[in-house]
Amino acid sequence: MSIKQVPFIALNRFEAGFRESFLNGVTGLFDKTQFVGGPIVAETELELAKYTRTKFAIGCANGTDAIQIALRAVGVEKNDKVLLPDMTFWATFEAVVNVGANPVTVDVNRTSCHWDIETFKQAVTQFKPKAAIMVHLYGWASPDTLEIRKYAQENGVLLIEDGAQCFGTEIKGESVYSGALIATTSFYPAKVLGASGDAGAIFTNDSQLSSKCRILINHGRTEHYSHGMIGWNSRIGAYESLFLKLSLQHIDARLESRRNAVKYYAEALRGLPLIPVLADPKVRENGYCAVAMIDPNDRPTLIQALKSAGIGYGTIYPGAMSMQAGAQGHLAGKIDHGNAHYISQAVLNLPCFAYISKEELAYVCQTVRAHFKN
Ligand SMILES: Cc1ncc(COP(=O)(O)O)c(C=O)c1O
Repeated sequence: MSIKQVPFIALNRFEAGFRESFLNGVTGLFDKTQFVGGPIVAETELELAKYTRTKFAIGCANGTDAIQIALRAVGVEKNDKVLLPDMTFWATFEAVVNVGANPVTVDVNRTSCHWDIETFKQAVTQFKPKAAIMVHLYGWASPDTLEIRKYAQENGVLLIEDGAQCFGTEIKGESVYSGALIATTSFYPAKVLGASGDAGAIFTNDSQLSSKCRILINHGRTEHYSHGMIGWNSRIGAYESLFLKLSLQHIDARLESRRNAVKYYAEALRGLPLIPVLADPKVRENGYCAVAMIDPNDRPTLIQALKSAGIGYGTIYPGAMSMQAGAQGHLAGKIDHGNAHYISQAVLNLPCFAYISKEELAYVCQTVRAHFKN
């Protein structure tokens, strides 16, 4: 085998003609000095709404702002309690604190790595939160997503869905974003739909929430110099919008390639102590991450073997939110069954990106197999 290394993520695998289309488009925007706003932003937002089957897509500066905007749009205010999973990316926690609300971390299920309905119900009963942020991690979603939505609605809990990792993920044939009251995403370049820089979006089917988000991302503007509320500047850039619009033309092929990579690992690593984990069968994952679990005591030596073979890896994420130094002094409560902590120690992510080759996948699997043979 000629391959001697595989990166964890490769950002440079584009379709033929993509680079030229983007650079030509940039020249056009540059010549028209369309740097912020302009038709390209509106066109991209329309395409995003169409692809995700949501009524409204509002572009913004990044995925963290998107969560803050969604929290503000639904009416979360200072000192409100907001539930979030103990296993997520830190931005979910930060967003709650940054809007002045109080985070409560709620443990995830050890098998699905996501919230389950029983723990969610327990958290709502115990903490009576104003809102909750359900996170769709790894390109999956909780198998209990529909039950959690229903329970939140029946109990007056405003449910925001952090979908930074789930572009293209479906539940019962529906885009995850389209079933949410309000959902957010990140277009950080390494995401399934990445931009040429930082960017994000909010999705909703509710016209009032959509209007409020638009006002919030643009200095609370109701007209150019009329400011109806305190917002901030979270506008999406024109070049990022162009890059997203062009990427959307190839998203189905990219999703297929990622999903195939995840399936390849599941088959090729069967029976090993590194156990690939797929999304629950109710969920059609997008292949954002190849997730596998290993006995935490065995993880360091496997990581060493991957490093020696020039293979990139991830441990997404290596710590529970409630245990972060930055959480101290902010936590308004927690439900902790030790699952998020366990997952953080046991998880290992193998290289996964659009257009990863069969040879690269085979090299990774061969290295993992050889490690366990020795
Ligand atoms: C689950 C989750 N939430 C929020 C974010 C924040 O997105 P961004 O980096 O675009 O601010 C990310 C991305 O890193 C994420 O993975």
